Amino acid sequence: MNVTKAELIITAGNKSQFPEMNKPEVAFAGKSNVGKSSLLNCLVNRKALARTSSQPGKTQTINFYNVQDEIRFVDLPGYGYAKVSKTEREKWGKLIEDYLCNRENLREVILLIDIRHEVGKNDKMMYDWIAHYYERVNIIATKADKLNRSQVQKHIAMVKKGLGLRPTDRIMAFSSVSKLGKDEIWSMLDGVIVD
Ligand code: GTP
Ligand code: MG
Repeated sequence: MNVTKAELIITAGNKSQFPEMNKPEVAFAGKSNVGKSSLLNCLVNRKALARTSSQPGKTQTINFYNVQDEIRFVDLPGYGYAKVSKTEREKWGKLIEDYLCNRENLREVILLIDIRHEVGKNDKMMYDWIAHYYERVNIIATKADKLNRSQVQKHIAMVKKGLGLRPTDRIMAFSSVSKLGKDEIWSMLDGVIVD
């Protein structure tokens, strides 16, 4: 899709603020600082539609974006940020569950994993949880520009194994700096719109 229109619909702090389920949605999940907002911006050719930050734990709400009046991108709050209080963590869990377990128009769930590191405990938990509800989980291994090409392949294999991916799942490498993987991700998303 050639995106010329992308806008924030709502920053939702609870379920009552979620928009109507009348458009297909794609949700982006992942650890704080993994690059969710950067990926969203890259896909819609914008520098700062979704706020990015070197300070982890910035996005603590579910942000819904309208893309070209055809599809919604849903930026889920990041997890695994140590400085978050127990109350905030519980609030995060409830919000994310309210979204992921009840969203009939949710067509693909994308889980972002930092390509450089071993899969963390929180990543594995998040994957298992999504995989329990969804037949296919799409993994995007971010920050691929930090590795060279042969390392990228090696690390993709490492992430696959670390998460225990099923044959129905998909994995692709991405970089918001070099734009590696952007076209592949869009081919997948275009599939959501024509379905
Ligand atoms: P939260 O909203 O806090 O959960 O973070 P996020 O997952 O939205 O991450 P964000 O996009 O804000 O990026 C976090 C940091 O990583 C920023 O400093 C980005 O510039 C950097 N970053 C994101 N993607 C990439 C990438 O592909 N390559 C490199 N080198 N840096 C990246
Ligand atoms: Mg963010």
